[in-house]
Amino acid sequence: MVTKIAVFASGSGSNFEAIAEAITRGELDAQIELVVTDKPGAFVVTRAQKFNIPVLEIAPKMFATKADYEAAVVEALREKDVKWVVLAGYMRLVSDTLLAAYHNRIVNIHPSLLPSFPGKDAIGQAMEHGVKVTGVTVHYVDAGMDTGKIIAQGAIGVVEGDRESTEQQIHELEHKLYTQTLKQLFEV
Ligand code: GRF
Repeated sequence: MVTKIAVFASGSGSNFEAIAEAITRGELDAQIELVVTDKPGAFVVTRAQKFNIPVLEIAPKMFATKADYEAAVVEALREKDVKWVVLAGYMRLVSDTLLAAYHNRIVNIHPSLLPSFPGKDAIGQAMEHGVKVTGVTVHYVDAGMDTGKIIAQGAIGVVEGDRESTEQQIHELEHKLYTQTLKQLFEV
């Protein structure tokens, strides 16, 4: 049965697009009911329009509290009967209201081998430390910063001093790993 999902993104949305393309190719039995962005005007909005997917552009500062913001988001998700929340470059911690509404049904992708290098600029952090191998992690989301239970990981070799090539390898791996992992999660 087709799984109804929402993808949350704050920026470019290349992971959103990889998931949408996998669905179009028939590789993932899911439907993106809604894209949610906390950054109105982010490039993910343009990408979503290309696929005719509705977008909720909702800035937290439009609300008095984070709970109010998340309640409005949850209402929009319920209206569309969304079953899973897929974070893809959503640069915000998730808190109680959303976590309670989608218990164990929120996943995230992070560009490092967690628990190493959580938080911002994980690729930069890894290169700064001189790691020789880094990678990508898909994990369940809890209230912490990239702390939820790990579901899947993939690794790449770092080309020392070459951030561009490392980033490119990371993103290519993300686009494959996220789709494969979602497929496994939704088949259960
Ligand atoms: C990805 O590297 C993802 O792992 C991280 O944010 C980035 C989002 O990229 N959480 P994009 O917006 O999907 O292109």
